[in-house]
Amino acid sequence: MSLMVLSEVTKTYDVDPPVEALRGVDLDVCEGERVAVLGRSGSGKSTLLNIVGLLDEPTSGTYSLAGEDVSRVGDRVRDRLRATMLGFVFQESHVLGHRTVEENVSLGLMAAGLARDVRASMVTEVLGRVGLTHRATTPGRLLSGGEKQRLAVARAVAPSPRVLLADEPTGNLDDVNARGVLDLFDEQAARGVAVVVITHDARTAAWADRRPDLVDGRIEHRAITRVRGSVLGERADA
Ligand SMILES: Nc1ncnc2c1ncn2[C@@H]1O[C@H](COP(=O)(O)OP(=O)(O)O)[C@@H](O)[C@H]1O
Ligand SMILES: [Mg+2]
Repeated sequence: MSLMVLSEVTKTYDVDPPVEALRGVDLDVCEGERVAVLGRSGSGKSTLLNIVGLLDEPTSGTYSLAGEDVSRVGDRVRDRLRATMLGFVFQESHVLGHRTVEENVSLGLMAAGLARDVRASMVTEVLGRVGLTHRATTPGRLLSGGEKQRLAVARAVAPSPRVLLADEPTGNLDDVNARGVLDLFDEQAARGVAVVVITHDARTAAWADRRPDLVDGRIEHRAITRVRGSVLGERADA
C-alpha cells in the first residue's frame, strides 16, 4: 500500500529572482519500501525532504500521507503528524551531548504525549534493539560516531513512525557502523515502515530498493545497477 504519494509537487522560493527548487515531482513510496533519493548539490533534495517531513509546503501539487492529503494542513495537524507518523534521522544526528542516551530517546517521545512510565519502557526496548543498553546512562557527548547515529535512529523510531526520513545517515560512518545503521533501517522496513534516505553514499544507494535521482528539481527514475567508488555525484552537502 502507498504510504506517501507526491503528485506534481513544485516548490518555488519567493526570492528575487524566484528559485524553482522542485519542478513537478511524482513520487510514490509504499509500506516497507527502502528508497534512496540521489542528486547533486542544489538539485532540490533538502527541499523535497522538508516537504515530505512536513517542515514546508509545496507551492503546487499534492502530498498525501497514509491516504490523507497533507499538502496544506494547519500547524496543529502538522505537529501531530510529525510526532506520530514521521521519524527523522539527520546527518549530524542532533544528539544532545549533555543528556544521557536514555534521556535523548525519552525527550523524543514527549512530543508524542506519552506518560512517563510508558516512555521508560519504550526507551528500554528501543535501546535494546539498537544495541545501546550498556550506554543508557552515558552522556551523548561520550558516544562514538557510530553509537551517536544508532542513538539518532533509536530516537527516530521509538514513537513507531510509519515513515522514516534520513538525511545522509551514513555519510560519516565507517563500513561497520554504516552497516549497523542500514540493518536498523532494514528492521524498520520489515515492520512496514517506509524508509526514505537522501544520500551520496554508495553503500546506502546500493542498499535501497529504489534510487530516484533528482536532477534540477525533477526526478529521473534511472536504475543504477552498479555503483563505483564511495561518492555519487558531488560531496555530501549540509
Ligand atoms: N530558503 C530558500 N530560499 C531560496 N532559495 C532556496 C532556499 N532553500 C533552497 N534554495 C535553493 O533551491 C535549490 C535547491 O536547494 P536544496 O533543496 O537545498 O538542494 P540540495 O539539498 O539538493 O542541495 C537551490 O538552488 C537552492 O539555492
Ligand atoms: Mg541539501
